[in-house]
Amino acid sequence: MTANFDEILDRRATNSVKWNAFAEDVLPMWVADMDFAAPPAILGALHGAIGHGVLGYEFAQESLMESVAKRMQKLNGWELTAEDVIPIPGLVTGFNIAARITCKPGDGILVQPPVYYPFLNVQENTGTVTQLAELKKVTHGRTLHHEIDWDVFEGAAHSNDAKTSMFLLCHPHNPTGTVYTDEELARMVEICEREDIIICSDEIHSELLLDGNKHTPIAMVSPEAAQRTVTLIAASKTFNVAGLFVGFAIIQNPELRERFTTELAKLTIHTNSLGHIASQAAFSGECDSWLDELLVYLAANRDFVVEYVEKNLPGVRVSVPDATFLAWLDCSELVESGKIEGPLQDFFIENGKVAFNEGTSFGPGGEGFVRLNFGCPRETLVEALERMKTALA
Ligand SMILES: Cc1ncc(COP(=O)(O)O)c(C=O)c1O
Repeated sequence: MTANFDEILDRRATNSVKWNAFAEDVLPMWVADMDFAAPPAILGALHGAIGHGVLGYEFAQESLMESVAKRMQKLNGWELTAEDVIPIPGLVTGFNIAARITCKPGDGILVQPPVYYPFLNVQENTGTVTQLAELKKVTHGRTLHHEIDWDVFEGAAHSNDAKTSMFLLCHPHNPTGTVYTDEELARMVEICEREDIIICSDEIHSELLLDGNKHTPIAMVSPEAAQRTVTLIAASKTFNVAGLFVGFAIIQNPELRERFTTELAKLTIHTNSLGHIASQAAFSGECDSWLDELLVYLAANRDFVVEYVEKNLPGVRVSVPDATFLAWLDCSELVESGKIEGPLQDFFIENGKVAFNEGTSFGPGGEGFVRLNFGCPRETLVEALERMKTALA
């Protein structure tokens, strides 16, 4: 083991959103960045750039887009060229742009709540209508997972309220941690083809696969899927460089790609030069052994959360994520029995001095849940779970 993920770094000394939004005595387990230093190869590349001294405007080099294409080939056997890859400042920007180019005001955007909350804001940003295909909660003892209810999905994709123009997929899914199977992806594609829906697939967590799980980009389901999909990826979650604001849209359909790049230009959207450097180092493969170690650490943290909840938090159920560093904790039994009242985030801050994401912000299906970020040293995780236990005692 070369990376020391047990090391506690003082993030309050930075301008971290996660660490500075609440009072100093509150342990933050919410915003989705990790409390680990980025891999040495990325830090070395950034030090090199800063050491030069001049931080002027820079192009996103063709070699960067080539690295992204090569990484997709290496990870997934996905044949791409640099031309298919467009730099963007972030994925939230990417899916808002995708909505702007695929939807007219009043059109529908299909999403699967509970889901990463900025998905639910696209409607307000673009004058569209959110169409909800809520995921189905399935419990097994003290654990749970979420499934697609295909009747609900089909109904949302073919509803009377609006023509569905875009399906905004989160794969792997945040907050449930589900990696969709090839069969599920094929069925989603089939419905989108039938209803003539463009797919925008947020695959930001696709390299954070636990237990050797496999991820298939939805665009790889078929040549037709590739033609109707905007895939969004980044090094930001995997290598913990989210504050550098660079991601990528992969669009194989030339006409769709042209509309996307035109919209970026119209909105004068640019990417960050230090983010280019970090992404180049990340996608070059130089950080892969760091990533292998990270995934082992995260899987052990995930297992620790599951075991702790099962043993010490009666009334709480926990998702067992296939991917991500996010655990989705179901406290609905405690809410229903009246043991917890009011917003859950407030409850745990007030009674345990620990901050989770409030489940209701993820839309329908989020009621009674909190999201816990386990991308942190084990000691921090233990402390957070003990605080949760104290709050519930
Ligand atoms: C599914 C998903 N998409 C996008 C983002 C944020 O992406 P960006 O910072 O690149 O806009 C997050 C961050 O948590 C996320 O979980």
